[in-house]
Amino acid sequence: MTSEQTTDIKHDSVTLSFNGNSYEFPVIEGTEHEKGIDLAKLRSSTGLIGLDPGYGNTGSCTSEITFINGEKGILRYRGYPIEELAENCSFTEICYLIIYGELPDRKTLDEFEYMLTRHTLLHQDMLKFFEGFPHNAHPMTVMSAMIASLGAYYPDATLNEDIHLNIIRLIAKAKTIAAFSYKKSIGQPIVYPQNNLDYVSDFLHMMFAVPTEPYKHNPLMTKALNLILILHADHEQNCSASTVRMVGSAEASLFATISAGVAALSGPLHGGANQKVLEMLDQIKQSGDPVQKWIDKAKDKDSSFRLMGFGHRVYKYFDPRAEILKSMAAELLPELGIDDPILNIAMELEKAALSDDYFKSRNLYPNVDFYSGILYRALGIPTNMMTVMFTLGRIPGWIAQWKEEMGRSDRRIHRPRQIYMGETKRAFIPMKQR
Ligand code: SDX
Repeated sequence: MTSEQTTDIKHDSVTLSFNGNSYEFPVIEGTEHEKGIDLAKLRSSTGLIGLDPGYGNTGSCTSEITFINGEKGILRYRGYPIEELAENCSFTEICYLIIYGELPDRKTLDEFEYMLTRHTLLHQDMLKFFEGFPHNAHPMTVMSAMIASLGAYYPDATLNEDIHLNIIRLIAKAKTIAAFSYKKSIGQPIVYPQNNLDYVSDFLHMMFAVPTEPYKHNPLMTKALNLILILHADHEQNCSASTVRMVGSAEASLFATISAGVAALSGPLHGGANQKVLEMLDQIKQSGDPVQKWIDKAKDKDSSFRLMGFGHRVYKYFDPRAEILKSMAAELLPELGIDDPILNIAMELEKAALSDDYFKSRNLYPNVDFYSGILYRALGIPTNMMTVMFTLGRIPGWIAQWKEEMGRSDRRIHRPRQIYMGETKRAFIPMKQR
């Protein structure tokens, strides 16, 4: 959709009967014919609120960034199918598309990439922060803290005239923070960014170069990581994107807002799942048990074990990202000469689960995290850095969600309601009578 077009929101209505009265609420229809009841006046007209724990049936906003059809396994960024973008674009091109709404022409992309390349350095004082973390601090904890700390150096990162520069700073410095935190965690000297390298090559260089020998770039690894980051770039109103919109609605700085998104993504049910997938596959491999035993465990209501990397709130069909990653894994591992038994276990697990009624009846398919962890492992990315990789990919999506929320003409602070189920009014009990 180009900026001069407007969203064609058609209006229908629903009627609610309550306490002998009838109330009419407009139904809006999006450009992909999704329909929603506009409840903005529900409480003021009926005294009722909607109650929807987990927001499975509640839309928090209209948005023009990402479209998902969970029943058909469709994912598009700004109207472009993920399969075409994955095939033809660089991650920085996708950053621009998702944040600014259009595919950049050559000149625009060159300027964008020039700016990204020249804002990769952290203020030298920030390097001291890394000294304060224990060596085994989880890199997601470091990531969230360091991104929030950028706000101490660039205090006015709100939707003002400098916002483009602060967006550039965030995307550019996030990969430096990630790579520096990795090097610190393994006790190796940090490797500074290089202006002659593209975004992904520079990240891999900062992660894996060592002072004792020249670093050898592998174009296949750059291509694979470029693809993985593109596939993670946005996913509409997921847990972390909704967190970003919520925190941003209070007019917190861009850096504080994105730091909150990192914290949400770290959860094992969300972005932390990719690390849990690898730990699960390793656990299955170490156990020597047949895969079916673990499938049965995942189905057992008395067991807290879940098949990590399976299931999704929205996709009730294949996650298109998982399909693309599965093909990339099948291409990359042999080309890198990797015969990873973990991949064989993953394929066996997927086959067994997809033929099992428990998973089929609940529409539990492999999600993006199921294969991404295997690819990260093939790229030499350690398990505890895998959710940091998800973070690097998702930063443009969070920025776009934040920018869209902050740019709304009817913007207001997010403040959900509740239904109180606690004690009714009761007399105070002095200490000596308790
Ligand atoms: C991401 O939202 C996004 O878009 C997220 C994401 C993005 O790009 O931002 O796509 C990235 O977070 C992917 C999801 C990564 N998480 C995991 O792989 C963790 C394992 N998956 C589950 O925990 C679960 O499937 C969720 C969290 C992904 C979705 O949870 P829901 O929608 O709340 O589903 P649910 O917990 O209500 O499950 C419905 C049923 C339950 O059984 P019943 O009560 O009907 O008997 O399915 C079962 C669940 O027990 N179930 C699983 C399961 N996932 C759901 N059973 C076994 N293994 C699983 N993985």
